[in-house]
Parts: sequence; structure tokens; C-alpha cells
Amino acid sequence: MRLRLVFIFFFLAATAFASKAKPLIGLSLDTLKEERWQRDRDTFIAEAKKLGAEVIVQSANSDDTRQVRDVESLISRQVDVLVIVPHNGAAMTRAVKSANDAKIPVIAYDRLILNANIDYYLTFDNVKVGEAQGSYASAHLPKDRTARIVRIYGAPTDNNAKLFKQGQDNILKPLITAGKIEVVHEDWALDWKPENAKKIMNAAITKAGRNIDAVVVSNDGTAGGAIQALLEEGLAGKVLVTGQDAELSACQRIVNGTQAMTIYKPLSKLAKQAAEVAIKMARSKPVVALGKINNGKIDVPSILLDVVVVTKDNMMDTVVKDGFHTAADVYRGAAESPQPP
Ligand code: BGC
Repeated sequence: MRLRLVFIFFFLAATAFASKAKPLIGLSLDTLKEERWQRDRDTFIAEAKKLGAEVIVQSANSDDTRQVRDVESLISRQVDVLVIVPHNGAAMTRAVKSANDAKIPVIAYDRLILNANIDYYLTFDNVKVGEAQGSYASAHLPKDRTARIVRIYGAPTDNNAKLFKQGQDNILKPLITAGKIEVVHEDWALDWKPENAKKIMNAAITKAGRNIDAVVVSNDGTAGGAIQALLEEGLAGKVLVTGQDAELSACQRIVNGTQAMTIYKPLSKLAKQAAEVAIKMARSKPVVALGKINNGKIDVPSILLDVVVVTKDNMMDTVVKDGFHTAADVYRGAAESPQPP
């Protein structure tokens, strides 16, 4: 699926506006609920402006019908390029067809759009994210007995959620088969909602008891929900919890000890590259891709960026050093909260 090829292609837009001096970009987001998407949006707009383009943003509040309508309205406003973070990678296929008919190039941002003629895909190495979560959890589980874990996956409508699970499976499955780990409860958190993750965690405790070693959770928002359930049981800080996104609240939980790790994804790199690619496409300039990913219909020229594991030990050297959060913000909180090392 993933080929490490470097290839350059010319995007031949068949429309007259393709060489426009000030391209108009339509950015359709699934949601702005998680902190990260606000940062993605802001960086994308700032970079696009810097490069001489304008951006119209729509956010669909996790609603497929609304997102399809958003994309159709961007098409009717004659944007030169569409950049889409799909709520549902399968449901977006129809809207992409309308963009294809209008000869508007489509870039999938962070999440893949399935079975559709899209022109480019920029994301992080999502399988690697899952592998890092699985590796961290398995390395810190008790080795003298079968470890008992709960698994909380992301939204079943998000192709990335499946890739995170696939990465976790790569690490955890052999240990489960060998009897070293037992999955006492597992479920998918609809729409990545923290309240759904909390319900899953409550159900896990009701079913399997308090004797749980780790909760492998796919992102920080849902980790927050699971930790809320653990807090109410007096178990927060005693059970290892994983996450992803390096949200500020997750980084604070990490230094306070209720969450073990997160994954830092350098969002500004992704957003800046996406703006650059979008503008090049609008201007019919050559675009470079480092690989390709099959979306069920075609091989999509793709860029996969690397990710970083964050724990309390390397907080300063990763998210703080990179300017993603300030030390003051991460270490702010209760009087007993730790100070930066
Ligand atoms: C993104 C994650 C995010 C999740 C929920 C995924 O597709 O890759 O970074 O936490 O969606 O919005």
C-alpha cells in the first residue's frame, strides 16, 4: 500500500481560473471540537494568506449531510481547490464526485476519502501512531501475570481510527495470542466523543471490575473521558492511559500523572504543506509527493509525516521546545502540580 517513491506530477486543471493570482481555497472540516482542528485551521489560513490565497472555512459539526452540503456550497462559490477533513471517509465520496464534475481538485487532509478521485492526501503515519500507543502500553504492563487491558477505539466512521487500531493490533495481538495480555473490554467511541469514551470505561469497570492495568485509548479527547470515569472510581493515576494529539489538557494530565503518554503530531507542518500544495494546484504548478496510498479506487499521491511519543520525561524537549505549548501552560494547575524539570 505505502510505496516510498518520490514522484512529481503536474496538476493540469482544465479550468480558466487555474492560474489565478489569488486562488480561493475551500476548507471543509468535520469538526472544530478537538483543540487540534482549531490549530490546523488557523495555521492553514495564515499560511495560505502568506502565499497569496484566500480561504473559506466550513465546519460540519460531525454531520455527514451537513458536510456534503458544505462541500457543495464551496463548489458553487467556485473555489479553485477543495481541502477536506471528512467526518466519514466513505460518505464524502459523493461530494468529491461533484467536485470532479466541476473540475475542482480535491485534497484529503489528515483523513483519507475512500473510493473517490481525489488528487492528493496529506497525513501523519497513522499506523505508526497506533503502534506507538500499543508499544508504550505493552512495555509498561506487569510481566509476572496476564495483564488486563481495556481498548477504546475512535469513531468507526473515521478511516484513521481503523489505522490506529491496526497499529495497536500489530503490537498487542501477538501478546494477546501468547496469553500475556487479556482484553477485558473494547468498544468504538462514536464521533470520538469524550462522553462516549467515559461510558465505555464505566461499562468496562462494571463488567471486569477495578482490576485493570491499562486503557489503550486512541486520542486525547477520549482519553479525557476514560480518565473522568477512572477519577470517579478513585483509579486515575493507577491505570495507564494512552492518548494522541498532545492537547494542552492531556499534557497537563501527563505531568500530573493521570495520563501516561500522548502522541505529538506537528500540525503546523501538515497545515503549511497542505496550503502550499493547494496553492500550487490552483496555479497548475508541479506538486511533489513522497508516496502513494490506495483509497479503494486509485493510488493517491500522498505525504505521511512522522510523529513523536510524549511522556512526562520528554515534555520539555518535544511539545514545549517546538512551541506547541508553553511550559507555563503545561505545568499550570493545582498547587501540588509538578514544575518543569
Ligand atoms: C485525527 C486525530 C483526532 C481524531 C478526532 C483523527 O482522524 O487523526 O488527530 O484526534 O481524528 O478528531
